[in-house]
Amino acid sequence: MVRGDLSLRLQSLSWKRNSNVKKVMKILVIHGPNLNLLGKRETDIYGTRSLDEINSTILSLAADLGIDANIVQLNSEGEILDAIQKSNYDALIINPAAYTHTSIAIRDAIAAINKPAIEVHLSNIHSREEFRKKSFIAEVAIGQISGFGPDSYLLALRAAKNLLSQ
Ligand code: DQA
Repeated sequence: MVRGDLSLRLQSLSWKRNSNVKKVMKILVIHGPNLNLLGKRETDIYGTRSLDEINSTILSLAADLGIDANIVQLNSEGEILDAIQKSNYDALIINPAAYTHTSIAIRDAIAAINKPAIEVHLSNIHSREEFRKKSFIAEVAIGQISGFGPDSYLLALRAAKNLLSQ
């Protein structure tokens, strides 16, 4: 076989392999302000698990589901906006923490990206103080998961997988 012939065959083989490869779903998980203090902060409300422990369970489920999950914790609104505006993901899971109740900027960023977003809370924001019942994010999210502790993130991951598989 001549050289050119072999390289052509290899090219066509690699094209075939690539065309069979399923695109890996990419999910961005954003933890908002003060969630870096989980495990030490108001443990009667938010539980005793640290953010690192919660992130490990998210990554482990993501691996089981074949999802590429990128997790960030950001304390400032501007950094959250920058992360949302990056287009390197297919769906967003966000716990905007206190910004849930105040941030029209985060609401507008989610509306702008045109990607499914799931709002997550550890506590049930509807059973707490009056000011927590208002979420600016809920209107632009596909749905809200609130009150299941760290499992809220895992439920959101499963929901995101199902959404992207449709
Ligand atoms: C929270 C609920 C918010 O009201 C609060 O400001 C948080 C955490 C939750 O996960 O339960 O910081 O988003």
